[in-house]
Amino acid sequence: MDTAKLILKGHEYEFPLIEGSEHELAIDFTKLRAQTGAISFDPGYGNTGSCMSEITYIDGEKGILRYRGYPIEQLAERSSFVEVCYLLVNNKLPTAEELASFQQKLTYHTLLHEDMKKFFESYPPSAHPMAIMSATAISLSAYYPELLDPEIIDLNIVRLLAKFKTIAAYAYKRSIGQAYVYPRNDLGYTEDFLHMMFAVPTEDYVVPEVLTRALDLLLILHADHEQNCSTSTVRMVGSSQANMFASVAAGVSALWGPLHGGANQAVIEMLQMIHKDGGDYQKYMNMAKDKDSGFRLMGFGHRVYKNFDPRAQILKKAADEVLSELGINDPLLEIAKNLEAIALADSYFVERKLYPNVDFYSGIIYRAMGIPTDMFTVMFALGRLPGWIAQWKEMRNDAATRINRPRQIYTGATVRDYVPVKER
Ligand code: SDX
Repeated sequence: MDTAKLILKGHEYEFPLIEGSEHELAIDFTKLRAQTGAISFDPGYGNTGSCMSEITYIDGEKGILRYRGYPIEQLAERSSFVEVCYLLVNNKLPTAEELASFQQKLTYHTLLHEDMKKFFESYPPSAHPMAIMSATAISLSAYYPELLDPEIIDLNIVRLLAKFKTIAAYAYKRSIGQAYVYPRNDLGYTEDFLHMMFAVPTEDYVVPEVLTRALDLLLILHADHEQNCSTSTVRMVGSSQANMFASVAAGVSALWGPLHGGANQAVIEMLQMIHKDGGDYQKYMNMAKDKDSGFRLMGFGHRVYKNFDPRAQILKKAADEVLSELGINDPLLEIAKNLEAIALADSYFVERKLYPNVDFYSGIIYRAMGIPTDMFTVMFALGRLPGWIAQWKEMRNDAATRINRPRQIYTGATVRDYVPVKER
């Protein structure tokens, strides 16, 4: 097996190489400090592998994304979100019987304990729903304590997948002062969520099929993305053997940031600002290239994709289809397309390999569906939940897992004696 040689202060060290199933190469530094006394330094972990995983494969140069080996384009076209949840968590596509049984389990675990409704009342209507999602996710551990019994862990996985959408819908209803709409056992996962979001007790509401299809696609596209910020957070918290609810709650918090899942909200706010400012997108392109402007083109750029983000390509096409089917002509979509066209021809973006990411077009579709902007990142979390769970489960079942505890390079004061306050 090839090795990597390192020469440090006149000494030569050898480290084994690790090669993945797609021939990615890593230098195994698990013994680096023990052998050399030095640590590696990689702020933001852009060059550091934290684990081995069988769940999602991304090739950033070729714009490839696969869940458990299945190309995202095929899953987006032919699968359903519930089936993708099963695939990610169980590492296999379900048979018809397995899928029906899984769907039924999800259906029969959608209700929250009635006492949990008090949580929503304790927030001001203006509370950002991501705060409610994170707080309520960890609170599930108070109602369903995780025992180490694998059967309970599997049941809690179903509970979390089933109840997360109810929490999201209740948070939305709370924010608009409407009554909660209970889940319905006769509706599928996505349709049931949209029904809880948009139905009112005073009249029957049938979810338009175009909305169910569009949301199912969005959830599939967001379901996992290997070791991104929020997933790494879930693994970090879970590595201390904190329970799954606590680990996912931490992931929700990490996702909230505008550089990560919060970008879909930031994109729409950016497009609205440009629209309000007369649609002068060239002005904002120039600002995005000016470091001193403090302005970034939200929805553009990615740590891994240095070519197109396959999800953005699928969503751009879906945005056209959904808006056309709904008869909506959204000026923000035209601004988004113009920004993309200019950026793809501009040396600043081309040199830095900045392309639209998953967040650039998703908000256009959420908006057309009638979902309010501050719920966009909640939708991202709803989609990412099976990925967080699958990664958490893989980490917990991996005998090689150790508590995550990075090192540092200390740059503070060297040793000095304490000085009593009267002598300072
Ligand atoms: C997601 O990791 C994942 O997989 C995430 C995700 C998932 O599914 O989990 O794909 C979801 O989070 C998508 C990303 C959403 N965030 C945004 O759209 C926010 C805007 N994008 C950026 O802030 C940025 O591109 C990041 C955060 C996405 C990536 O940041 P990096 O890899 O740390 O890149 P960087 O900030 O070091 O930028 C490199 C260069 C810099 O210029 P120079 O210093 O080299 O001159 O590119 C510039 C940056 O200034 N740059 C941008 C830019 N993004 C990077 N300039 C203008 N507009 C941008 N959007």
